[in-house]
Amino acid sequence: MKPNGWIIYNGNLPGNKFLDYAEMIQESATKQGIDMKILKNNALLSLLATDQLGIVQLDKAELPDFVVFADKDIYLARQLELLGITVFNSSKAIEISDDKIASYQYMATHNIPMPKTIVAPKIFTTGNIDHKLVEKAIEQLGLPLIIKEAFGSFGEQVYLLHSLEEIITKIDAIQGKPYLFQQFIPSSYGKDLRLQVVGNQVVAAMERVNINDFRANVTSGGAMSVYTPTKEEAALAVAATKAINADFAGVDLLIGPDDKRLVCEINSNAHIRNLLDCTGINAADYIMEHILGVLS
Ligand SMILES: Nc1ncnc2c1ncn2[C@@H]1O[C@H](COP(=O)(O)OP(=O)(O)O)[C@@H](O)[C@H]1O
Ligand SMILES: [Mg+2]
Repeated sequence: MKPNGWIIYNGNLPGNKFLDYAEMIQESATKQGIDMKILKNNALLSLLATDQLGIVQLDKAELPDFVVFADKDIYLARQLELLGITVFNSSKAIEISDDKIASYQYMATHNIPMPKTIVAPKIFTTGNIDHKLVEKAIEQLGLPLIIKEAFGSFGEQVYLLHSLEEIITKIDAIQGKPYLFQQFIPSSYGKDLRLQVVGNQVVAAMERVNINDFRANVTSGGAMSVYTPTKEEAALAVAATKAINADFAGVDLLIGPDDKRLVCEINSNAHIRNLLDCTGINAADYIMEHILGVLS
């Protein structure tokens, strides 16, 4: 029997990037003989009671065998898992990937090379910023340093700060949100590598270069070009993906001192359209093939 699948994407976010991803997965599934239904996360209501666990107005028989979860609605992903559905990526992998602090904790646990990072304690968010703690962070990481909000994407919540004053102003502006301090890697200014991992292999890669900003994200102006990763880079990207137990992920690598590679980020929900435009490789085909392999 062919498995029956859903693709869930965020029904609230503006733009068509998220639906586009869902449609790419759906097309690849169709090519591989599987019909998949696309649903918005906010069309599904998780129901919980003493003796009930389900989705409002849906019988168990209407639920799929598997879900490609192109969203970060962890509660919904977990609800589906609790209903016995296999979710790709798992709710846990998406949860860790979405939270940069958790991601670096898992990376450090698995000895993945990464920039030195300090997690801002909750004490920083009281409104009275303790200058001594900021000075300690500067002592450890040097200046300039990077501040990243734990939750963010497209480079929009990543900041490069040059002085104690700039840091204090930024912390003030983002207070209440979890964030981290990180060593700035100057050799990677405006430059990174994006490797798309599926299962145990890198299926496509590109280099991103931005001459106007330290962030290489395409959304902040990074230009993409096809890249052939070395064996070491590919192994590092696969190891990072495994560290958070993701089935597939877009892994960002920084160019560190002595030409060493450092993992910057593991995106469990990486967009694959740019990668297709740049490399001609459709990661969705590999993702679906991998999923069908896991399910069989
Ligand atoms: N420690 C760092 N040193 C130098 N550049 C960095 C560092 N961390 C991030 N960057 C740059 O900023 C970009 C965005 O950071 P990232 O952690 O990937 O956040 P996002 O989830 O917003 O993409 C990276 O692609 C990279 O170009
Ligand atoms: Mg990134």
